[in-house]
Amino acid sequence: MELIATHVCMTKDVGVHGNLFGGIMLSWIDEAAVAMANQVCLTPNMVTRKMTEILFERPVKVGNTIRIYGKVNTIGNTSISLDMLAKRINVYTGEEEVVTSTQVVFVRIDEYGQKIPIGEKVKRKYGFIE
Ligand SMILES: CC(C)(COP(=O)(O)OP(=O)(O)OC[C@H]1O[C@@H](n2cnc3c(N)ncnc32)[C@H](O)[C@@H]1OP(=O)(O)O)[C@@H](O)C(=O)NCCC(=O)NCCS
Repeated sequence: MELIATHVCMTKDVGVHGNLFGGIMLSWIDEAAVAMANQVCLTPNMVTRKMTEILFERPVKVGNTIRIYGKVNTIGNTSISLDMLAKRINVYTGEEEVVTSTQVVFVRIDEYGQKIPIGEKVKRKYGFIE
């Protein structure tokens, strides 16, 4: 998987139980994922169509460093699906453990907000057409 973004959990990011607020994690993942989708699809015009089941596997606490990773899962006609993982890093040992996982689907749109095909060159590069 490719490292896309790194965040440090701040006091402003936690909820009532002292864990990172889920909505903040979702925005970190969505932002990292759209950055990857734009880069892969060679356009700044990708919009989030779907986030699949989101698993919050471990709590994130103030001071934790979080790395967001992504990988292309599939590319269709107008959409791309990315596997996304957020991992907490132990800054002393470099060890990482998954805290959150999901899959995000983006659709390419034109200037009117209508879906349009992802370029053939992109699909070929990632092996989704001959
Ligand atoms: C993006 C948008 C223009 C797509 O138009 P649409 O008519 O809904 O398009 P479709 O339902 O035909 O889906 C388009 C693509 O998404 C895929 N898709 C749709 N629903 C899906 C689902 N539940 N799971 C996985 N993929 C899905 C389709 O398979 C299709 O991909 P393909 O062309 O690669 O086969 C429209 O849904 C939209 O504007 N959504 C809001 C986007 C938004 O505001 N996002 C949040 C902020 S960025």
